[in-house]
Amino acid sequence: MVKNKHFCNRIEMENNKVGIIGSGIMGYGVAIVCLQAGFSVLLYDKYEDSLLKAQKNIENFFEGSVQKNKILPETKTIMLSKIEYLKELSGVRARIVIEAVPEILKLKQEIFQELENYNPDSVLASNTSTIPITRIASVLQKPQNMIGIHFFNPAPLMKLVEIIPAEKTSDITLQKAIEFVNSLQKNVVIVKDSPGFIVNRVARHYYLESLKILEENIANVQTIDNILENCGFKMGAFKLMDLIGVETNHSVTQSLYESYFFEPRFQPSIIQQKKVDAGLFGKKTKEGFYKYE
Ligand SMILES: NC(=O)c1ccc[n+]([C@@H]2O[C@H](COP(=O)([O-])OP(=O)(O)OC[C@H]3O[C@@H](n4cnc5c(N)ncnc54)[C@H](O)[C@@H]3O)[C@@H](O)[C@H]2O)c1
Repeated sequence: MVKNKHFCNRIEMENNKVGIIGSGIMGYGVAIVCLQAGFSVLLYDKYEDSLLKAQKNIENFFEGSVQKNKILPETKTIMLSKIEYLKELSGVRARIVIEAVPEILKLKQEIFQELENYNPDSVLASNTSTIPITRIASVLQKPQNMIGIHFFNPAPLMKLVEIIPAEKTSDITLQKAIEFVNSLQKNVVIVKDSPGFIVNRVARHYYLESLKILEENIANVQTIDNILENCGFKMGAFKLMDLIGVETNHSVTQSLYESYFFEPRFQPSIIQQKKVDAGLFGKKTKEGFYKYE
């Protein structure tokens, strides 16, 4: 008997494959969520070391679930047999494809332009944090197939998913996206297309004001985080930036700043820029605002 409560519960669909582009924090996290829901996953990354790291993380995640008695060892084996790690984008042919590459408009556009050749009738989704979906879709032959599906980090834990239909997204694409996210046991919120959508737009000030307090020497990193956690936030701003990836968080701010025509309230932080320049990206590089073992 399969012990995972989500696994195999969903109705089998004609083409059960989900393609994921980019195997970093979000890519491998979303892959885990899809495997848990019974989908087969094609995980593509341009860089072999990223793919290997993702494979290790995914295997460790399911091994951890076995150790915690959340799933049976045979469930883990079945889930791991349902994922393929791909080095060629042309191998990604699936009913739904989710892109999770760095927050760079041109990069995302080029990937979707190539992807739609292999997936002319599939749902093409971006996990972008800030870039308007309409802008990404503007270079596509079939913009009606494109939509935003914005998972949060860590994807296996975070229940909320923003679904963002773009100007030309068809109703059928929207319906398929909602059905897909519901089948992952996540909570869907439909958001109009705009830079940063809702969560990242609001959250920007959590990070930026904390960085300003640090820049003005009012308090240090630990003190600011302690205060935030003590007044009810689950994670202090600096811990959260280290978890997200300092460089990802910074590029999200830059993207929002540009998209809102350089409104000062979204101005990026120099301290954060310095961390990025030094390659101190947070947990993934073992140092960001904190140091990690
Ligand atoms: N980190 C977060 O907390 C978070 C949360 C929600 C959404 N997002 C968004 O998700 C996307 C990915 O973020 P991430 O944090 O997973 O980044 P990441 O840096 O952890 O992963 C990006 C992955 O893309 C790969 N990549 C780079 N260029 C590529 C290319 N040309 N083709 C294929 N793969 C390529 C990298 O090797 C890496 O594995 C971004 O748009 C980001 O804004 C991030």
